[in-house]
Amino acid sequence: MLRRIAINTGGGDAPGLNAVIQAATLAASRLGWEVFGIREGYSGVLDPDNYPDRGLVRLTPESVRNISHLGGTILGTVNKGNPFKVTESLPGGMVVERDRSEDVLAAFREHRLDALIAIGGDGSLTIANHFHQLGLRVVGVPKTIDNDLQSTVLTFGYQTAVSFATECIDRLHSTAEAHRRLMVVEVMGRYAGWIALNAGIAGRADAILIPEIPYSIEKVAQHIRDRNRPYSIIVASEGAKPVGGDVTVLAREAGRQERLGGIADRVAAQLQEMTGKETRSVILGHLLRGGAPIALDRVLGLTFGAAAVSALQQGMNGVMVALQPPCIKFVPLAEAIAQMKLVPPSGEGVLTARALDICLGD
Ligand code: F6P
Repeated sequence: MLRRIAINTGGGDAPGLNAVIQAATLAASRLGWEVFGIREGYSGVLDPDNYPDRGLVRLTPESVRNISHLGGTILGTVNKGNPFKVTESLPGGMVVERDRSEDVLAAFREHRLDALIAIGGDGSLTIANHFHQLGLRVVGVPKTIDNDLQSTVLTFGYQTAVSFATECIDRLHSTAEAHRRLMVVEVMGRYAGWIALNAGIAGRADAILIPEIPYSIEKVAQHIRDRNRPYSIIVASEGAKPVGGDVTVLAREAGRQERLGGIADRVAAQLQEMTGKETRSVILGHLLRGGAPIALDRVLGLTFGAAAVSALQQGMNGVMVALQPPCIKFVPLAEAIAQMKLVPPSGEGVLTARALDICLGD
């Protein structure tokens, strides 16, 4: 029987995290369980000197009452805190990696925590699955603005990101038109083009570049020259790459995924040169992760949080909550993290874009 559960949030934040925390806390409290949040991924557990009570924060119906509409996460998050690969600097400057997973399991035993609700993207859910394999009772909740997790049609945060990106693109139309310019807008999404494709379609873009369809810059320039419109908007996913080329990388740091970024500048310079039209670039970046979740993401987060508790109550373990309309399903964590969910190059979204005469660079 479950008495005490923990919740953590890991990886990049996404609007709707607090809605999940609220619903899971309320649903678990109704069952008489005690709920604890872990500060900043697993940092509180791994770094007891800097986090009182191993970073455990008691969550009660009162403490989470008014948080579902807030962006960010009340627990904090990190995207370099893998307890299976903790980097430590030795005297003399050498950096080593240590597996500290046993410390996390010991903290769960010490605090009599019976289960973990891990809210995260592919990286955090991979860690959660490792803990599940080591015997911890775990239920995962899919979070990422990138919408790139298998087995769920939507992750919360994604629709907020698409809405805000669309609003930004809407605004760029008037200034682009006033100056008769090309505007290249870069959006996040990592290796998946969901945000770019849908914000680009909604925002009436002339061209959309996504990682799943390598682009030819000549074809984009040709499209712009042929249409000869007073101005044009090009939406570029940060992970888009030219045919035969590679992604544009901002930084590579040990123990972290490569940071993508810079494609808008690159494409803007090329298009200005090739079309002769004055061109500007805009990077939306972390603006897509900030701010309040739209109502759809609040509802999705609340639904996922309640479902995660229901999964634990039903005795499930090692599963992820998934939206498979019209139902919420529970899929093995291993299945959800096995591969990324990418935009199908012949799927409805791409076909719609082509029908709207939007150039995809191919
Ligand atoms: O995975 C979410 C995401 O926002 C990606 O779209 C983006 O590439 C990355 O995180 C940025 O991470 P960071 O916050 O470390 O810059």
